[in-house]
Amino acid sequence: MLSITKFSAVNSTTRFAVSQRTSQACSGVVPSNPLPQFAVPSTVCSKDSRLLRSLPKRYQSRNLTAARVIQQERSVESEICSPSRISAISLSDNGFNVEIHFEDGTRYIFHSLWLRDACRDERFLKSAAGERILALTPLVEGCDVSNFRAERAETVDGGDKALLAWNDGHSGALDASFLKAYAPQVAETIETSCESSTGLDVSWLEPYMSGTCPAPTEEQLSIWAGPDGEDFLVMPYEKAITPEGNLELIQRILRHGAVKVTGAPDPGEERLRSFVYDCFGGLQKDPSRAEANWKIVRKEGAASVSYNPTVRLNNHTDQSLPNHGIPALLLAMHYAEGWGANTFVDGFAVAKALKERNPRGFELLTKYGNNQERDLLASRQDASQNHTDSMYLTSVAPIIQLDDAGEVKRIQYNEVFRTPATVPYSLFTEWYEAYLQFGTMLHSPEFEREMPMSEGDFFIMNNWRVLHGRAGSHDGSGRGRQSPNRVLVGGTVTRESVFSKARALLLQLSPVPLHGPTLLS
Ligand SMILES: [Fe+2]
Repeated sequence: MLSITKFSAVNSTTRFAVSQRTSQACSGVVPSNPLPQFAVPSTVCSKDSRLLRSLPKRYQSRNLTAARVIQQERSVESEICSPSRISAISLSDNGFNVEIHFEDGTRYIFHSLWLRDACRDERFLKSAAGERILALTPLVEGCDVSNFRAERAETVDGGDKALLAWNDGHSGALDASFLKAYAPQVAETIETSCESSTGLDVSWLEPYMSGTCPAPTEEQLSIWAGPDGEDFLVMPYEKAITPEGNLELIQRILRHGAVKVTGAPDPGEERLRSFVYDCFGGLQKDPSRAEANWKIVRKEGAASVSYNPTVRLNNHTDQSLPNHGIPALLLAMHYAEGWGANTFVDGFAVAKALKERNPRGFELLTKYGNNQERDLLASRQDASQNHTDSMYLTSVAPIIQLDDAGEVKRIQYNEVFRTPATVPYSLFTEWYEAYLQFGTMLHSPEFEREMPMSEGDFFIMNNWRVLHGRAGSHDGSGRGRQSPNRVLVGGTVTRESVFSKARALLLQLSPVPLHGPTLLS
């Protein structure tokens, strides 16, 4: 079974402290005297050993004992400098700019007007409403940009804040960590440090910070193929609902595409809704029914393949709502009763292979193919739930969707809802061959995996990447892949919910403040 890389509050704190010390050494704030040589004892405890391994290589190379490292860390803790604390602040350019020096040696020049416009202390912001006080904005008050200056700048709270007074008669305070986080984007850099980062890595969330972010890089993904690849992570439910387990759960889903969670107590719709709400921010609401989740219960003579578990269901991504826009990022399925076998395939792995084997076919699938329609009322006659209102949703989009740089960002495909293609006459047969090749690869032993599922299990996947289906045969022969009492419930989670939950967990588990929509730190 795949081992779990721990990401706990303790580890986060440790990384932060180490990063701080590295910054100090780089900038010369803390004397970097030659460290004595020590032999590493053979009986270093596991916690100390982890700390030793987490240190910068130059410390490790000096063979410090873990005990010595911890002792040194504690001895400097009280006098440690913060890389985002302000060491000096002054007006420049006759007050049009403000120069700010941070304790890690970095120095920046900010526009005085940017500081006024960005200032979010209680003088300018109703925090309970999250709103600017309109009457006090430069826009409403009036602002002479060519003559806007700061008249005074000083540090307060020991350098944790900058207090400024401007020539419009206002004054305000800005957090040092806020200024340090934004500085590389908005200020002129005078001096950088060899390591001015606080050490909190949020790069794994960057592809999901908005609906138009670039696709994840190869380094951010662990692509898998059929049964021979890396196993899915299996996480016990009780771990998944802890903050540390929850954050790891999200990270692993975004990196590997899917995680199985086992052993949920009291399986059922309520468990699905509470688990998804607690761990991912909640299910996406379907406007046609009261419940946010779907529920698949076997129905004799069902018209829809979804409600007839004796036959195979092709691998697909859920289109969610609105399927004419950006589908939901995650799909959670949960076995409320019974057992069964589901199939999964890494759509990115298939797309990558198709590009290598048939570049022209890959190109055509990045332009055409996901024409779909769904009448939310008429198409759900087999559902055990009540559906009240309808929406008629259509989509015309490529099956393989790319970002602006041409990298694969999303697979959007479901054969059962596919409607007549609108590929131009001159390209249709060529496109159709590529579509058949792609669909065959999606269901080939080379790429498809089968996962046994039973009551209490969850399977959570990246719906932009991993396609899911139901094992079995298309003619219903070879029954016995699903138990007769199988009840499967599930639903989708929007990108916005996933990002919000991940951000909240990072804030909860890390001492590093995060700022702005891209989690600057
Ligand atoms: Fe589905």
